[in-house]
Amino acid sequence: MHHVRAPLLSSDEIAPGHFLMRFAAPRIAAEAQPGQWVHVRCSDTWDPLLRRPLSIADVADDRQSFFILCRLVGRGTEKLVAKRPGETADIIGPIGHGFDLRQVAHSTPQRRPAVALVAGGYGVAPLHLLLRTLREQPGTDLTAAVFIGAETAERLLFLQRLDELADELHTATVDGTLGHKGLVTEPFQATMSSRPADVAFSCGPTAMMAEVARICSAHSVPCQVSLEQHMGCGVGVCLGCAVPIRADGGVVYRRACCDGPVFPGELVAWEDMA
Ligand SMILES: Cc1cc2nc3c(=O)[nH]c(=O)nc-3n(C[C@H](O)[C@H](O)[C@H](O)COP(=O)(O)OP(=O)(O)OC[C@H]3O[C@@H](n4cnc5c(N)ncnc54)[C@H](O)[C@@H]3O)c2cc1C
Ligand code: FES
Repeated sequence: MHHVRAPLLSSDEIAPGHFLMRFAAPRIAAEAQPGQWVHVRCSDTWDPLLRRPLSIADVADDRQSFFILCRLVGRGTEKLVAKRPGETADIIGPIGHGFDLRQVAHSTPQRRPAVALVAGGYGVAPLHLLLRTLREQPGTDLTAAVFIGAETAERLLFLQRLDELADELHTATVDGTLGHKGLVTEPFQATMSSRPADVAFSCGPTAMMAEVARICSAHSVPCQVSLEQHMGCGVGVCLGCAVPIRADGGVVYRRACCDGPVFPGELVAWEDMA
């Protein structure tokens, strides 16, 4: 984990209120793993006091810079997306345990592992880096089905990038402006019923990930979910990010910041999630 002052190289509003921001930070970019995140001070004043967590969405090929996909929702993200190229941000990262790539079995001439990725909204960010990394991993020739959902077509993020990386891309919008009209878990469930994946990965709203985990359990398919808890310290001290995880016949609390944010979906006690 590194603490750097990173120059902002570019910032583009790729969808209304969603900014793809690229920071020069070779030490963070060199070590970033899919599912890890960075803790960002959004301004150079004490307002807001706490850093904000953002997933690492991509790294440049030369590993000199990394990207975040930031949705403008409140005071912190408002100050962050107001930064212009050339300005800097105080960033700590990469943080946390990301996706476990070992669950994607290596391919053989007879068999290509099938993975499914299910994202809601800006949940595409960590899944994009995951799929890119899997595609570049030597010895892994996989088939990837990607499911992305949003309220409306213009909020379907990274559509073109994911289309290039996926074997199949399924889209769902609540208002029906693109793809399936309804929730992204509906086409996911239909596909899993006919062609179950070997492993699934998910990031997005808690209710969506709970449903993904339920569908995967019903098909005995392992899944990994990236949980989004409110974070305080980001280094495992304040316990503000505790999430309920099943263990030894009961429920224990784990820290999403450093024990996660990625956990096995079947181990999360979804009914106890705040
Ligand atoms: C591991 C992790 C990865 C994340 N990755 C991304 C990402 O890639 N892109 C992205 O746009 N957002 C991501 N988020 C959510 C992002 O951290 C919050 O949207 C951000 O902190 C809101 O800050 P704010 O000051 O603008 O909003 P606030 O004014 O603080 O609050 C506005 C809304 O954001 C929610 N929120 C506030 N603080 C947090 C927090 N620390 N964690 C989660 N939700 C919060 C509040 O419930 C509220 O609904 C991630 C969160 C976590 C925990
Ligand atoms: S955010 Fe403080 S322990 Fe996780």
